[in-house]
Amino acid sequence: LPPLRLGIAGLGTVGRGVVRIVQTHGALIAARAGRRVEIVAVSARSQKDRGIDLSAYAFEADPVALAQRPDIDVFVEVMGGHEGAAKAATEAAIASGKDVVTANKALLAHHGQALALAAEAKGRVIRFEAAVAGGIPVIKALTEGLAGNAMKRVMGVMNGTCNYILTRMEATGQGYNVLFDECAKLGYLEADPNLDVGGIDAGHKLSLLSSIAFGTQVAFDAVELQGIQNILLDDIRMAKDLGYRIKLLGVTQMTGRGLEQRMTPCLVPADSPLGQLQGGTNMVVLEGDSVGQIVMRGPGAGEGPTASAVMGDVIDLARGTRVSTFGQPASTLTKAIPAKAQAP
Ligand code: HSE
Repeated sequence: LPPLRLGIAGLGTVGRGVVRIVQTHGALIAARAGRRVEIVAVSARSQKDRGIDLSAYAFEADPVALAQRPDIDVFVEVMGGHEGAAKAATEAAIASGKDVVTANKALLAHHGQALALAAEAKGRVIRFEAAVAGGIPVIKALTEGLAGNAMKRVMGVMNGTCNYILTRMEATGQGYNVLFDECAKLGYLEADPNLDVGGIDAGHKLSLLSSIAFGTQVAFDAVELQGIQNILLDDIRMAKDLGYRIKLLGVTQMTGRGLEQRMTPCLVPADSPLGQLQGGTNMVVLEGDSVGQIVMRGPGAGEGPTASAVMGDVIDLARGTRVSTFGQPASTLTKAIPAKAQAP
């Protein structure tokens, strides 16, 4: 088979990680995929030195131009942002017949359905394992290993920054504001920090898992959202006294009243797997009718883990998969009836 040719839009943390994996694991990838995976061109805001050798690749200042290049097969979107450049470039890639691999949770939560439909109309697929829980292959677990289950519930901690703040509040006795500032210094926050601490980023991820787990259209607007900004040290202490911890917990389940999706601070037993989850780690709990409960824990962000998830999708495409990340054609996803709307 000819090599699979990539165009990578975005050379931040994740883009750099993808370049590093392709450069260091060429033989391993070729053995697993049955063909080589090559980077042909990259796009970024500037051509500054990023500590990686990009000299063999064409450079496009404009990600839309990258997306339209006839010499790429897969458009890898790791730029971030859900309106503007990332959306335009992803649409351009699909329109020019490319498959897409993206880590962009915000873009997908708002436009994933439309993008997947557009891709299907072109006979292309869009894959986004990296958009949910970073390095944890939760989407693959749902769409492949658990494909024979009717899912009952999916739960999880899906924002490492919030989990870091909450666990450090308990461990150090420092307040929310001090730890928010620490996260800013450590570079843990999204460009708009409200996406993290307001629960929005985690809500984006939950809406994608809901869609995949229940075969429903992405309904981010129906996620009940509450962030961690108002959690006090006293709340944390009182929870502890009762044997609980406070976690920003996502829960999605199909009830008799419709689809329930919540991303809110919750009390969880301190000795449960979710209660034990420390620092910037993520955890996803999957409950299927046949399998029972599965717990997946791992890094939810960072160069290596996120690039690992991107490359899993790239290698799947190199192998010839035509399954979209939703696990079924986007045109067959049913409308999500939010449980809230039906409440008495
Ligand atoms: N800001 C996100 C987090 C990054 O803290 O989990 C990964 O999506």
